[in-house]
Parts: sequence; C-alpha cells; structure tokens
Amino acid sequence: MRGFWRNKRLLITAGPTREALDPVRFLSNHSTGRMGWALARAARRRGARVTLIAGPTAFRPPAGVRFVPVVSARDMERAALRCLRGADAVIGAAAVADWRPAQVSPRKIKKGRSAPVIRLVPNPDVLKSIARRRRKGIPRIAGFALETHHLLSEAKRKMIEKNLDLIVANPAEVIGRSVTDAWILSRQNAPRRVRGTKTRLAGALLDALAALP
Ligand code: CTP
Repeated sequence: MRGFWRNKRLLITAGPTREALDPVRFLSNHSTGRMGWALARAARRRGARVTLIAGPTAFRPPAGVRFVPVVSARDMERAALRCLRGADAVIGAAAVADWRPAQVSPRKIKKGRSAPVIRLVPNPDVLKSIARRRRKGIPRIAGFALETHHLLSEAKRKMIEKNLDLIVANPAEVIGRSVTDAWILSRQNAPRRVRGTKTRLAGALLDALAALP
C-alpha cells in the first residue's frame, strides 16, 4: 500500500483561516496546522507530490512541498480550486472559519460609547466545493470532523453531506496538541480508532486513502 503514493498528487488544506473585521482585528480559531504539516511530511516521505494550502500558522513550510499560504476562507477556496487540476487525492485538514464579518471596516473600529454589533455571513465550504467538482471518484477526498459532542454520528453526517470518501472524527480537545485519539470512518468499513501522535494518524489516513476501492 505504501507504493500507492509514489508520484501521486495530494492537495492538503491546513491551519485556521482569519476573517478580517478591520485592519487590526480578525475572527479565527485555535488550529495550529500541526495535523496538516504531519500529513504533508508523511505523504512526502512516501513519494507523493504535495501541495499544502495553509492559513496563518507559526510553522515553516515543510521541505519538498509546494506551499500556498492563504488568509481567509475565500482565499483558501480560490487557491484550492486553482490547485485541484490533476490531483489524485485531497485532504481537508483546515479549520475553516464558518462565518466572516459581513463588512470589513477600512479603518480601525474605535471604541466609541457602545460596543459594535458584528453581523456575520457564511463562508464557502472549501471541501464541499472541491467534492462538487470531482468526476468518477477522482480525486479521493478525506475530511476531518472536529466535534465537542456526538463525535461519530456527526462525523458520519459530514462525510455523507460533503460527499467525502473518508473522514477523521477528532475530539475538539486535540486541537493544537501533538497527540490525538481519533476515529477513521469510511463508507465501507467499520470505524477504526487511532490513538497516538498526529504523525501516526497521518500515516493511518494515508493508508486508508490508498486502500479505497
Ligand atoms: N471545511 C471546509 N470549509 C468550511 C468548513 C469546513 O473545507 N467552511 C472542511 C474542514 O476542513 C473539515 C470538514 O470540512 O475537513 C469538517 O469541518 P468541521 O469544522 O468539523 O465541520 P463544519 O462543516 O464546519 O460543520 P459544523 O459547523 O456543523 O461542525
């Protein structure tokens, strides 16, 4: 199965996105990009040609990988659709912000007398946009579900709704940590539990993608 990845093109989204409110403020989340980096390195070691599209993180781009830095969810969607051509597999490991402020103030919002009310509008679903464009099972697509409640049932719902082949169900407390206690769900097989480092989970997910019919 390891041979599967040699010269295969893998597109990975990783890290958080930032949604600007004004020139100095943004909405985001706790994602560090650790999982995406672990996936990029593991795939590279197996000989894959990796494109890593990542929101702002503290990490340097992994060696030997095509690195595409982005900021917002809309940037990420644009970059992903641009890089999609020729991809054999896609892994959505990014924690994409689901909403963005309806308006971005060109000036710093001043304190004034009352607190501002921020209206939010939905962001595009990057992975859904990718899955919508696929033909005959190519590329193979995996996502992540980060949940505080109903881990497995929510992950399964997302796998089906987003038209994914696989999904990793990750409990919310693993965000930013180097170890995890996750489940890999597919449409065919029973969920498989993977405990240990994110590097280990990365290897297990690549194996599961390679083993898809
Ligand atoms: N995802 C994405 N674009 C979004 C939201 C999520 O590409 N706007 C991808 C993530 O990269 C992940 C999967 O979809 O692979 C599930 O993300 P998650 O945040 O767990 O779920 P949501 O779709 O945001 O659903 P909910 O808010 O109901 O948890």
